[in-house]
Amino acid sequence: MKALFLFSLTLASTLFFSTSPFSHEASEASLKTDLETYIVFLEKPEGLLESNLHEWYTTFLSETTSSLIPSHQRIVHSYRNVITGFAAKLTPHEAKAMEQKEGFISARVERPVSFHTTFTPKFLGLQQNEGAWKSTHSGKGVIIGLIDSGIKHDHPSFFDKGMPPPPAKWRGRCDFNGKQTCNNKLLGARSFLGAGDTPVEKDLHGSHTASEAAGSPVEGANVFGQANGTAMGIAPKAHLAMYKVDETDSSVLAAIDAAIEDGVDVLSISMGNLVHYPFFDDVFVLGAFRAIQKGIFVSCSAGNGGPLPSSVTNSAPWILTVGASTIDREIRATVTLGNNVELHGQSLFQPTNFHPKQLPIVDPSTYSASAAFCWEGSLKNIDVKGKIVICQVVSTALITAQGQEVKDNGGAGVILINRAEDGDTTSPEPHVLPASNLGYKDGLRVLDYLNSTSSPTAAISFQGTLIGKSKIAPQVASFSSRGPNLQSPGILKPDIIGPGVNILAAWGEPVDNATTPFNVVSGTSMSCPHLSGVAALIKSAHPNWSPAAIKSAILTTAYTYDLDYNPISTEQNVPATVFDMGSGHVDPTKALNPGLVYDIEPDDFVPYLCGLGYDDKQVRMIVQRKVNCSSTGSSIPEAQLNYPTFSISLGAGEQKKTYTRTVTNVGRPNSRYMSVAGSWKGILDVEVAPREMSFKEVGEKASYSVTFTRLGNVTASDSTAVHQGYLVWAGHDDDGRKLNTDMKEIPIQKNKSYTTGHEQILHNLARKLNSDGNVDAQQILHNLEQGAVGSAQNNPQVGHGGWARPSTEHPKPMIGRLVVSHPAEGRRIVQMPETSITILLDVEEEVMLLDDTPDEEKTIISILLLKLVLALQS
Ligand SMILES: *[C@@H]1O[C@H](CO)[C@@H](O)[C@H](O)[C@H]1NC(C)=O
Ligand SMILES: *[C@@H]1O[C@H](CO)[C@@H](O)[C@H](O)[C@H]1NC(C)=O
Ligand SMILES: *[C@@H]1O[C@H](CO)[C@@H](O)[C@H](O)[C@H]1NC(C)=O
Ligand SMILES: *[C@@H]1O[C@H](CO)[C@@H](O)[C@H](O)[C@H]1NC(C)=O
Ligand SMILES: *[C@@H]1O[C@H](CO)[C@@H](O)[C@H](O)[C@H]1NC(C)=O
Ligand SMILES: *[C@@H]1O[C@H](CO)[C@@H](O)[C@H](O)[C@H]1NC(C)=O
Repeated sequence: MKALFLFSLTLASTLFFSTSPFSHEASEASLKTDLETYIVFLEKPEGLLESNLHEWYTTFLSETTSSLIPSHQRIVHSYRNVITGFAAKLTPHEAKAMEQKEGFISARVERPVSFHTTFTPKFLGLQQNEGAWKSTHSGKGVIIGLIDSGIKHDHPSFFDKGMPPPPAKWRGRCDFNGKQTCNNKLLGARSFLGAGDTPVEKDLHGSHTASEAAGSPVEGANVFGQANGTAMGIAPKAHLAMYKVDETDSSVLAAIDAAIEDGVDVLSISMGNLVHYPFFDDVFVLGAFRAIQKGIFVSCSAGNGGPLPSSVTNSAPWILTVGASTIDREIRATVTLGNNVELHGQSLFQPTNFHPKQLPIVDPSTYSASAAFCWEGSLKNIDVKGKIVICQVVSTALITAQGQEVKDNGGAGVILINRAEDGDTTSPEPHVLPASNLGYKDGLRVLDYLNSTSSPTAAISFQGTLIGKSKIAPQVASFSSRGPNLQSPGILKPDIIGPGVNILAAWGEPVDNATTPFNVVSGTSMSCPHLSGVAALIKSAHPNWSPAAIKSAILTTAYTYDLDYNPISTEQNVPATVFDMGSGHVDPTKALNPGLVYDIEPDDFVPYLCGLGYDDKQVRMIVQRKVNCSSTGSSIPEAQLNYPTFSISLGAGEQKKTYTRTVTNVGRPNSRYMSVAGSWKGILDVEVAPREMSFKEVGEKASYSVTFTRLGNVTASDSTAVHQGYLVWAGHDDDGRKLNTDMKEIPIQKNKSYTTGHEQILHNLARKLNSDGNVDAQQILHNLEQGAVGSAQNNPQVGHGGWARPSTEHPKPMIGRLVVSHPAEGRRIVQMPETSITILLDVEEEVMLLDDTPDEEKTIISILLLKLVLALQS
């Protein structure tokens, strides 16, 4: 009936309009069905006042489109800041007609984009505990703007108790219907979903991200009675502004446009394109550029395309690109096999008074392919009654449905086994029966056990929420998007990882009977606002730092070891590379005081963009001003951008490359830094010049160069791999004071075996370096390099190094000595009594040289860690 009705209506209008002057065009109704939202990019004529932009836009419509639908009904967004142009409802024919008009650059249909949460919501209250630094630097005076799905403004996370009034620069709006609903926490909220829509959260996402960045403290946050605690954002004193968008890039462009005008300090964007586009055709990248031109810091999610290589999005160098990692918290459901092997998985369903008992296991994969996944209906003819069923995980979003199928067929419990690619990233879900999601390797152990016995059994037991039990955290989440960066291979992406797995924050609707809804969600959508919060803390402490300086501070102080001081691993339980985690995991406290920063002015990106091969027009679309890429000095290689990482490649026949970096002293006056860089496993020689830098004043700049030289004997087959390495600048001031007073020392445990952990040793060395010791430090690192190759296996005495005695010129105490010897099992033991470092390759061989310098006299240290990605091509 309905279809018929619409059909007749169409007929009628066709008839009616066939006599109109527009008969050569489609009818209004058929015109409407042809309409799509186009983004039209224009070039602003010289001298046109900003106040006349909108009027000029409408001339494009009035002159090229059918008047059947008037201009004011067509314009969807009128852009002012990010681009010159507008979004309008057009037919392909009309969009084509615009090409004739002066000032037209291009027009394209708006694109779908997505929020970066992939995981199904999980229902549990967990306390966010981000450390004591929160109370001292809480983001006061900083406004974080979120481009997101709207906000549940009456959630206590957005109450404004104790919040100061808005900063004077705030020019935003609050567009909720009815009475005033913004406050000193939530300063503003707007919707870009069309007339009549309010900023109230639609897709459940925006309240979560906003409260992660800057939510007010809410006591007693708990779900289902679990994990009672205080929930709050990373920068609890920062203000929030919500810019509500849907999953279209035309709305995102409009939202960023407005946020820039409103005076936000930090933009938090947990969204991205579905596929890669060049920088000049990517609204996130364009919007972010305009933002950094106005001094606004931009933090974006890296995407949930991992572990696929080159899945990283939002990868322009003016964006902080954030990957996701786990936290040291699990909601444990243990599987005890009949042979007493215990395997720890996760489940949110944690029945109380549950008495685990051994039950028969059934593996339905032996019946059919669909039964292997426990698809709906697949277990109908399989005897699972009273048994524990094995199901293969396909997607976290389907896990609870798999359990439902088991329950519907009388199963007693379910063991959900990860796919190989998801490795160890497990997920606590609200199951309907006893369940445990096991990682891939543990799953294999279950399958092995099944093969080993004719009557396999298992029991599932529940341990509730455990914090700090697993030391393998942070770990890169399987879904976190990876580098290398396809759009700009010379810029390492992602930049950083932060908490993004099973994060508790505000939720838009109740998940249990609690009056204040919270929820646990995963995604790079969650890690991005954590970093937005960190940026707000830094901005609050250092209001004059540029977006690039803030980013540099975050990157150079990141750490790369987990709670057990082993290298951060991926979901596959192998050490994460720079393509998995960028510089490492954020350390908010250290980021407040980095010593030196690598600063970049917005204009510095012009030669970088020219060097990427973009033409004048394309660069102009990004930087919004005239450029000439062919004039002298207007183009640089990517690696020459003053970025806090290096990503270089040596092509065929290329023997060496030299790049420079310029650092700005943001630490103490009268400070001195020295560099530590080793050779890279016999592949490359890396030389830093000068090796020392001194600063009289704060704000002073200094430059150094790094030369990467391919060793003469390195052949193509040696050099196809990607290599990574580290460059450390370690510093002290004239009084021998540590430059970073908040520095957290890594407690090196006696007799602990560090199987890998090259970088962690560098961290420790840098903390212990004495100003007089740079020659020996080089030697030490050289030795470490040799040891790390594993070729030291047969070499009883790998080498030793030490720090020189204090000289009269630099009366600094000797800190310690390093001895490397007897690489018995190819592993490394690090021991560090109070004031000395001993690095042994064998437990038995304890060689050390002690120095009893009191702790406060140590002349350490701020670390700048430059990551090097070296792709040598044949
Ligand atoms: C949560 O903790 C608070 C303060 O310790 C306490 O008053 C409250 O009863 C607790 N709630 C639950 C559900 O445990
Ligand atoms: C178990 O045995 C089957 C059949 O022999 C074999 O295909 C499978 O690979 C085995 N699984 C494991 C985990 O060993
Ligand atoms: C919520 O309360 C209702 C009514 O008391 C109860 O039936 C239901 O089980 C509760 N739900 C949860 C998740 O606790
Ligand atoms: C760009 O610079 C080159 C070299 O200086 C010059 O020849 C060319 O005319 C310039 N192009 C424009 C559009 O100004
Ligand atoms: C190249 O020679 C150096 C010095 O002799 C050696 O350490 C390195 O292992 C060699 N590299 C390769 C790839 O053979
Ligand atoms: C280190 O290990 C050795 C050998 O196992 C042992 O004799 C020694 O007591 C240990 N030292 C410490 C401090 O634990």
